Amino acid sequence: MTNKYMYFIANWKMYGNINSVNTIKNVIKISKSKKYKKSNIIYCPPYTLINEFVKKTKNSKIKIGAQNCHTENNYGPHTGEISSKMIKNLGCSYVIIGHSENRKNGDNDRIINLKIRSALKEGLKVIFCIGESLKERKNKQTINVLKRQIKKGLNKIKNLNKIILAYEPVWSIGTGMVLKNKDLEDQIFKIKKLVPKKVKILYGGSVNPKNITNLSTINNISGFLIGGASQNSKKFIDIIKKTII
Ligand code: PGA
Repeated sequence: MTNKYMYFIANWKMYGNINSVNTIKNVIKISKSKKYKKSNIIYCPPYTLINEFVKKTKNSKIKIGAQNCHTENNYGPHTGEISSKMIKNLGCSYVIIGHSENRKNGDNDRIINLKIRSALKEGLKVIFCIGESLKERKNKQTINVLKRQIKKGLNKIKNLNKIILAYEPVWSIGTGMVLKNKDLEDQIFKIKKLVPKKVKILYGGSVNPKNITNLSTINNISGFLIGGASQNSKKFIDIIKKTII
């Protein structure tokens, strides 16, 4: 597409087993080719596979991220939880925070803000997800919702160069429904005005090899957060190849 650095972030959600790491070998291969040197490929596997992914991608420029973290950065008495220190210690450089699937499970703006702070404290970069629900969209609340999520999520956060914003309309995740180009471009433009210039904006929601050619023409998008299609290396590679031409 362009000469700018593009992000391709694979969000594996609660999928994958101990053998899954072997499926990414072709992605590692293309990440090493000159043509794709302007791509930032980041895998966010479930916690259970982070170690395997870190080992497998060690000699490549692929980076690894977690899909969430606790509000406290350090160790502590929190059964079943993982802190940003632990994530960093495993070799991750990124963490997804504020995904709508976690917001649905109780992560409100304040909790998300605390999680972002904890991640930054440990030197992780944050993939900060925002997005409106279908109801909010129908009620013409989209921009207000995004404004609130950004304002509260990034409250008192200074190192904004460590934040990547991922715009993921909730109704678009895993549904195959994507905004029309013009509407998405307008939306991204509005979001851009809400954050400093240095904050990169990604799009997420049903990105796949079929719609990527179209999506990659949209202005001001610095990359994609990809769920379903990223678990299939052939599809993931297809998305990268069709974006960076
Ligand atoms: P999807 O998921 O690509 O399967 O829609 C995106 C996401 O949830 O980050």
